[in-house]
Amino acid sequence: MKKSDVKILAIESSCDETAAAVVRDGRDVMSNIIASQVPVHTLYGGVVPEIASRAHIEKINSVVEQALYEADVTIGDIDAVAVTYGPGLVGALLVGVAAAKGIAFAAHKPLIAVHHIEGHISANYIENKDLEPPFLCLVISGGHTHLVRVADYGKYEVLGATRDDAAGEAFDKVARAIGLGYPGGPKIEKCAHEGDAFAIPFPKPKVADGEYDFSFSGLKSAVLNYLNSCEMKGETVNTADVAASFQESVIEVLTDRARMAIDEFSADKFAIAGGVASNGTLRTAMENMCAEKGVKFYHPSPIFCTDNAAMIGAAAFHQYLAGDFAGLDLNAIPNLKLG
Ligand code: KG4
Ligand code: ZN
Repeated sequence: MKKSDVKILAIESSCDETAAAVVRDGRDVMSNIIASQVPVHTLYGGVVPEIASRAHIEKINSVVEQALYEADVTIGDIDAVAVTYGPGLVGALLVGVAAAKGIAFAAHKPLIAVHHIEGHISANYIENKDLEPPFLCLVISGGHTHLVRVADYGKYEVLGATRDDAAGEAFDKVARAIGLGYPGGPKIEKCAHEGDAFAIPFPKPKVADGEYDFSFSGLKSAVLNYLNSCEMKGETVNTADVAASFQESVIEVLTDRARMAIDEFSADKFAIAGGVASNGTLRTAMENMCAEKGVKFYHPSPIFCTDNAAMIGAAAFHQYLAGDFAGLDLNAIPNLKLG
């Protein structure tokens, strides 16, 4: 098996982005095509699974063709086809899995099944050529909040996860409640710039019996209660203050758990990943915390934080080297666990 100049065609369709990329040796992105469905779902205030599946079907072939074209390769130049097979929306995942199986079968290429969260973590390898395991990684996205110890390529220990809402989900729900709309994360971040992060003392939820676990539904309820009580008292709500104070609470909880894990495991490298990791205020807070601790901080650029296929190609490379291939009976697993 080739160990270098390995070109992987990667496909990602677990939620609302139809994406394909060509990645060389797990770190060099030759193309990265993302067809976002945000405008379609905005009409409904969130992702509608059935609409997502249909939109993936419409886009998948052209996205794959464009990824090959922009990388200036043909399918014959590709060494393997990788695809996200979970976790995610089952109908959405199935579109990518079926496309990848079809291409792998027709072109006689090996198939690699990639875990979506492993993809998010691996996004850090793309722009940080020096980053190697072991390191700690906080994965914060719309569906997941995981604090992970990356022991080696493909070897993960989940230290903590959310008990209820994911961090991005909390951003989306609060954004809807204060009238900012979908997708909530970037809108809250923008609005928060105009507000006072210490104006409203929202709770910083802790989970009693799981020191690295998270819980964001209580924080979301606190925001809703605050909005209700303002309405009942006839007070006008300062939306920017709510956005900034909510964001501050989320950031405090996340940096606090990250700091604890860095101390406990004497980590010298800490990374963030996932859609919420594209939040600039959060990134700065993590950067400062890591600087205080003397820990090297890693984060992907925003384009590699939100769902993309380049991160799937980055993760797949190590599975390729390990000979970890999938059969053509590969199925989507919506609730796939990590580690
Ligand atoms: O990783 P991702 O694209 O999809 C999942 O795997 O879930 O993450 C999407 C999530 C959404 O909840 C979105 O609101 C959040 O990431 N997000 C942000 C920002 N950009 C995206 N949250 C906070 N601040 C942002 N700038
Ligand atoms: Zn994701």
